Amino acid sequence: MARILITSAIPYINGIKHLGNLVGSQLPADLFARYARGRGHEVMFICATDEHGTPAELAAAKAGQPVAEYCAEMHAVQAELANGFRLSFDHFGRSSSTRNHALTQHFAGKLYDAGLIEEVSEKQVFSIDDNRFLPDRYITGTCPNCGNTSARGDQCEECTKQLDPTDLINPRSSISGSTNLEVRETKHLYLKQRNLRDKLRDWIKSKKDWPLLTTSIALKWLDDGDGLQDRGITRDLHWGIPVRRGAAPWPGMEGKVFYVWFDAPIEYIAGTAEWADAHGRPDADWQRWWRTDMGAEDVTYYQFMGKDNVPFHTLSFPATILGSGEPWKLVDYLKSFNYLNYDGGQFSTSQGRGVFMDQALSILPSDYWRWWLLSHAPESADSEFTWENFQASVNKDLADVLGNLVSRVTKFCASKFSGEVPAAGEYGAREEELIAALSSGLEAYQSAMDKIQVRRGAEELRALWVLGNEYLQSAAPWSVIKTDEAQAKTIIALSLNLIRLYAILSRPFIPDAAEAMMAAMKCDDWTWPSDIAADLRRLPAGHSFDVPENLFRKITDEERAAWAAKFSGKRD
Ligand code: MF3
Ligand code: ZN
Repeated sequence: MARILITSAIPYINGIKHLGNLVGSQLPADLFARYARGRGHEVMFICATDEHGTPAELAAAKAGQPVAEYCAEMHAVQAELANGFRLSFDHFGRSSSTRNHALTQHFAGKLYDAGLIEEVSEKQVFSIDDNRFLPDRYITGTCPNCGNTSARGDQCEECTKQLDPTDLINPRSSISGSTNLEVRETKHLYLKQRNLRDKLRDWIKSKKDWPLLTTSIALKWLDDGDGLQDRGITRDLHWGIPVRRGAAPWPGMEGKVFYVWFDAPIEYIAGTAEWADAHGRPDADWQRWWRTDMGAEDVTYYQFMGKDNVPFHTLSFPATILGSGEPWKLVDYLKSFNYLNYDGGQFSTSQGRGVFMDQALSILPSDYWRWWLLSHAPESADSEFTWENFQASVNKDLADVLGNLVSRVTKFCASKFSGEVPAAGEYGAREEELIAALSSGLEAYQSAMDKIQVRRGAEELRALWVLGNEYLQSAAPWSVIKTDEAQAKTIIALSLNLIRLYAILSRPFIPDAAEAMMAAMKCDDWTWPSDIAADLRRLPAGHSFDVPENLFRKITDEERAAWAAKFSGKRD
């Protein structure tokens, strides 16, 4: 049994996430967490909401709420939706937690002690009418690169160029629209990441098994052009983690907070501490996941994220960890994703384009979405959601292949024999072939899942379902029963056991259906199969079962058309 730590990139607090966000981090992280638990490993799976920074403040202002209140409400909304999608976090924390305040300040203090923090006086845009500095998204103006007139102070969404607020032409306040701005001096802390460049490069190069997408992004940022820059880790904002040197005040930094990208990844650790607090456990219980001097040397740590997050996880966060000089765990395997597009364009939160988590659950249960999203995860390239494709894959894979097998077997047995598993006799060649095919299919499935090849995992699982369907079709118990009742019973006994086997193997992808299948087999033994022949005799003769409700319903053409129309514009 291994110990596996899994974190998903923590979603921004502002607003409900769309399906593109979901499939880029939280959902595949959940798939892997469920798989690892299924294999019997000890798993710690952490996610949280990312609550600081200008997006949170601006969203709260738009909602007319104090920012702390807005964040508390949105955290509850996101937690509820995570539940709806059956995301099996051990803890869903908050980057605004007291644990994260303390840890973030702790790391800043250690970095200072190590000589890695520099105080820099710099020029920032100050709004006279708003009586405040305008960092990042608080300022809007014309992009010097492409001429877009509503570029934000941190980045132009049109041409994606990273910007500084002082780069903008005709700048205005995002709060009041005021152009009564001036440039003022202000002091900020910079993390001297350049000093860590060699350490970071050695570390990244030692990761031979990382996906190319991950290492190429990391090395590009490390070596291209100006290379790794020292980065400002503080902001002139009210909402955030106050700048302190550990528990002590930081002279000259009063009233300032840490930059959201400094504190957010630290929440992976803080979230684990929140988990311990929530369960009344001592610090040692979370530290054994994170501190190599406290038992974490045998932990394997996996991170999941969209590709835009890779630089922060391969450079900035490791710089915090390495620079601290303390024995914290670094990521062992970083799984990153491309983008999911929506029906010929992009999903967009700001434009309300696409399907959002709440909307998805309002029309179909989570398993339908989980199956489509995971079997089409944007791994080697961007992928696209279309309603046709969604309908086809739900109707074929889930309803025709898996759902149909379950309903045919249980209904046939209940009507021809009874609501109990019939006695199985000797197997024939067909059964032996099935067992051999399932055994090698199981290995292929495990090998994909061990490597977190999400789409391949879905394909291998579907191939296992298909084997069962083909077996049933060719064994044809409904004909055999007319001449050889004992053989028909053998076929059905094996097939009922197959339902239990599929419940175990399918649970990481479609947990609700898997639990319904297992419950119908009146069993609660989820032990991962290691010997298919033995597993197919696990439910003995006379063991009772239920005929489950239809596991999956088909999506009709009318529904597909109606949903495509309903979700074609902006969300209200
Ligand atoms: N909130 C960020 C996003 O959605 C992800 C933060 S991940 C962490 O892009 F590193 F900060 F934790
Ligand atoms: Zn631009």
